[in-house]
This record gives sequence, structure tokens and C-alpha cells, in this order.
Amino acid sequence: MRKIHVPLQENSYDVIIEPGLINHIDDYIDKSREIVIISDDNIPKTYINTIKSFLSNCLCLYVPHGEKSKSMEMANSLVNSLIHNNITRGCLIVALGGGVVGDLAGFVASIYMRGVDYIQIPTTLLSQIDSSVGGKVGVNTETMKNAIGSFKQPKLVLIDSTTLQTLDERQINNGIAEMIKYGLIASKTLFEDLYSLNIFDDIDKYIYQCVQIKKDIVVQDVFDNGIRQILNYGHTIGHAIEQYSKYELLHGEAISIGMMSMSIGTIFEKEIKKVLTKYNLPTSHDYDKEALYRYITTDKKANKNNLNIIMVDKVGKGYIKPIIISQIKERL
Ligand SMILES: NC(=O)c1ccc[n+]([C@@H]2O[C@H](COP(=O)([O-])OP(=O)(O)OC[C@H]3O[C@@H](n4cnc5c(N)ncnc54)[C@H](O)[C@@H]3O)[C@@H](O)[C@H]2O)c1
Repeated sequence: MRKIHVPLQENSYDVIIEPGLINHIDDYIDKSREIVIISDDNIPKTYINTIKSFLSNCLCLYVPHGEKSKSMEMANSLVNSLIHNNITRGCLIVALGGGVVGDLAGFVASIYMRGVDYIQIPTTLLSQIDSSVGGKVGVNTETMKNAIGSFKQPKLVLIDSTTLQTLDERQINNGIAEMIKYGLIASKTLFEDLYSLNIFDDIDKYIYQCVQIKKDIVVQDVFDNGIRQILNYGHTIGHAIEQYSKYELLHGEAISIGMMSMSIGTIFEKEIKKVLTKYNLPTSHDYDKEALYRYITTDKKANKNNLNIIMVDKVGKGYIKPIIISQIKERL
């Protein structure tokens, strides 16, 4: 078992990384509480049934799988279900699933009765190494990704890497894209391992490394006004591509193209292409550049004229660079 403490004063919590953890989930969750599991309709039922078998009388709410469920309508529908089931402020919401469920259930926890406790049990690689930690929760609108949201830290994050056994290769590679990002912005060794080793020989070690990197950054800048922005390497262009593709491209795939664009002209341009290709991640696109630019001008990190982009000159060290917004065009 590995444990990472995220020290955020009264919002501090632990991230537990332990294969097989869901088979004794009652060691981590107080089953005497009023528990609501929020999951999606595509997560293998065996995980939900295992967890349910330990938590008597919990309420389970399911949303359709996929990015479209990260919406105000879905959040509203979940809130109505909580009201309908007389769920009180003392409840504990359990987000069981990938980043969509985590962001959505966390958002509901942040608004229901002005905020209730929630924990994350992430079951995709992307959510285990990234979205379940750091407290960014929210939903999309038709025109803007993550347009509505809050900062709401979970009470606990429980990571069981055995749940990755049922995840298909495309979804695994989707998560690897964020791992490559961590390597580029913070760890040359991680980047090199991703290229030369089979990280699944010891996946818990790599999940731990990624969560450690995210934690170290988040605790310095929980509200994303400074250093936390380096976690967005490749995300400005990536988010635009993700929205333009109407979420046909997965988050990590879109970020992959975004990272490649940001690496053009660097000394590691060839290496990054090799590592992205190793994991079947896309490195180019033929989308309409003007349309992508319009999405970028509405990016949350942009103001009317300027934009902070994240740059890496040397693998393992990301930094923030303010630019005039139109300068991003040369990278599209
Ligand atoms: N909050 C943050 O800090 C943060 C960071 C990065 C990404 N995100 C968000 O995360 C979301 C993407 O998350 P994701 O990539 O996990 O996608 P996802 O939640 O859509 O999950 C992908 C698919 O895998 C299925 N699935 C989940 N676990 C499974 C398992 N163990 N076995 C088989 N199938 C399983 C799901 O049902 C779904 O169909 C995006 O909305 C992105 O914006 C948030």
C-alpha cells in the first residue's frame, strides 16, 4: 500500500494506492454513514457490486457514460434524485468511475445543500493519475469545456489499479497521455521510462509518481492562479481540439496533439513524437485552424488579449509563458 498525504489545512486528505483495495473497502469508508454512489452505466458491475456488498443501504445513481454527461442538466438531475431520496447534508458521495464521473459527482457534492463530503474511487488510468486529485470539479456547457465548476477537495482518494484490467487499450493510452505530460513538465526519468520500459510491470509505482507530482504542484497553488497552470501543458490546444471534435477524440488524445504542437522546434521534438506514437496517440490534426482559434479565445485561461501557455524547453521542466493570444495561431 502506498499513501500520499495532500496537505491543504482543513481540506487535507490522503490518496491511497493499493491493488485489490475495493475488496476491503469497508476499511476505508465508514459504512454507518448515509452513502450515495455515483457511477456510469459502462463501469463493470462487478466493481459496483463488490463495493455495495460492504456498504449496506447505499443509494446508487448511474449516469450515461461519456463526456456528454458532464452537463448542468445531469448535475441537476442528480441533485433532484438526492432530494427525492431524502439524502441529508451528512451524506457521503462516492464517485466511482473515470474523470467524467469524478468531475460530475464532485461538482454535485460541491453544490448539494451548499456542499457535502465526497470521495473519489477512480477506475480509469487518467482519473487515477490526474482528475481524482486536486479538487477541480465541474461540468461543460455546449460551447465551453469545464465552464461551470468549483474547487472541492475530496475527503479521500482510493486507487485500486486492478480495476484497470477491464479498461480497453484506447482508454489506457488516453491516461498515458497525461503521464507523458507529467514526465515532460516534471520528471525526465518518468518520460524516459515511458519510452523504454513496460510501465505495466509496476503500474502502482507510476501511479504513485504521477499523483506525487500533481500533489506537489496543487499544494503550492490550489486555486490555479500560478504554478498549477503547468499541469495544462498541451491543454490549450488540446481542449480546443477536444471540443471541436465533439469529444470524438478522448481527452488524452486531444492533449497528445496539443503537446506535440507545443514541442515543435524543441530539442525533444523527435523523442516526444516517438513516445506518443508508442502508445498509438495522435500527433497531428487536420481540423479547421480558425475554428480551433475561436475555441482558444474562450479558454478560461485567456483574457481578451493575453494567454498563459505552458512551455517545456528541456524534458522535466515546464514553465508558464504569457503570450499575446494571436501568437498561438502559429502552433495550430
Ligand atoms: N478534474 C481534473 O483535474 C481533471 C483532469 C484531467 C481530466 N479531467 C476530465 O476527465 C474526463 C475524462 O476522464 P476519463 O478519461 O477517465 O473518461 P471517462 O470518465 O469518460 O471514462 C472512460 C470510459 O471508461 C469506462 N470505464 C471507467 N472505468 C472503467 C474500468 N475500470 N473498466 C472498464 N471501463 C471503465 C467509463 O464507463 C467510460 O465509458 C474529462 O472530462 C476531462 O476533462 C479532469
